[in-house]
Amino acid sequence: MRHLIDTTDISVQEIDQIIATALDIIENRAKYSEVCKGKKLATLFYEPSTRTRLSFTSAMMELGGNVLGFSDAASSSVSKGETVADTVRVLSCFADIIAMRHSVEGAPLVASHYSRIPIVNAGDGSHAHPTQTLTDLLTIRRELGRLNNLTIGFCGDLKFGRTVHSLIKALSRYEGINVVLIAPEELRLPSYIRREVCDKNNIPTREVATMEEVMPELDILYMTRVQKERFLDEEEFERLKDSFVLNADKLKAAKKDMIVLHPLPRVNEITRDVDNDPRAAYFRQVENGKFVRMALIYTLLKWAEEHPAEGETPRLDHSLVHNDWECSSRQCISNREDVDKLFHLTDDGDYRCAYCEAKCK
Ligand code: CP
Repeated sequence: MRHLIDTTDISVQEIDQIIATALDIIENRAKYSEVCKGKKLATLFYEPSTRTRLSFTSAMMELGGNVLGFSDAASSSVSKGETVADTVRVLSCFADIIAMRHSVEGAPLVASHYSRIPIVNAGDGSHAHPTQTLTDLLTIRRELGRLNNLTIGFCGDLKFGRTVHSLIKALSRYEGINVVLIAPEELRLPSYIRREVCDKNNIPTREVATMEEVMPELDILYMTRVQKERFLDEEEFERLKDSFVLNADKLKAAKKDMIVLHPLPRVNEITRDVDNDPRAAYFRQVENGKFVRMALIYTLLKWAEEHPAEGETPRLDHSLVHNDWECSSRQCISNREDVDKLFHLTDDGDYRCAYCEAKCK
């Protein structure tokens, strides 16, 4: 049984195949209108969402399938204390595939250990958002015609920005990628991503203080929101929230074919005068999210038919290390629910929590 919990769960060839399927869907909508007839998608959203939940819903409807689920955990038995593991065991009886968003990091990985149907991580805390990455990759492919030889500037909240973490992991597997990081000191990219993803894959990566100084060399400017919901200290959020703002004036220095991406929602970080610039691709990016999720649902259901779930739950990856160490992150599922403590050993000899990637030993 294949799941999509992290972008590294699928190979570059599989990513390219999903993008090719999305492009085929765009060209031949009628061909796919009944391919999921009789199938059901469960959307389990424990955290707010507009684009991800509704694009999954729209995607399944356009494939001829049906959708059930909740958009507010308070209306489900989660509010009575039901665990992620038990919730997905139950949903495995009602649906064929699950898209799960959770504010707690690692919740979708726990779900995958107990589910008899494919689990898609629709965003877990500050950790990962692999379907946004597929959306971003499809958008880059459609806008620029390639996924290699790109200089991409990531701007804003690179610490808590799960879309940034997932996209860097995915792009690091393509050729000729250059990464520029533009963030306040407090919101810098986690050092393990820089070291274990960028450096390990020989991706030239540098930090700069302003977007203006790199604007002329960028192929992509990936803007992100400073996320109020991730801050424990409201004063710190207020101080940092408007650190970087893109406006039409700053865009004058950019290449004519540069694109501006943003996973959305935006608040103040892109002013409205950018919206009508042809380089502003963020609303086209939203529509690509529906097409790529159609391709993903179709692909995962096909894989599930070829390789159904076997054996007892939990089904754990035997390459992971069991131990009784505590994960250092309070946002990790292993500190919220009774789950197997699992770690993976990095090339540097560090042990990272399998759920949230916090360094534990
Ligand atoms: N990009 C994204 O994940 O948006 P939502 O939070 O609205 O789903």
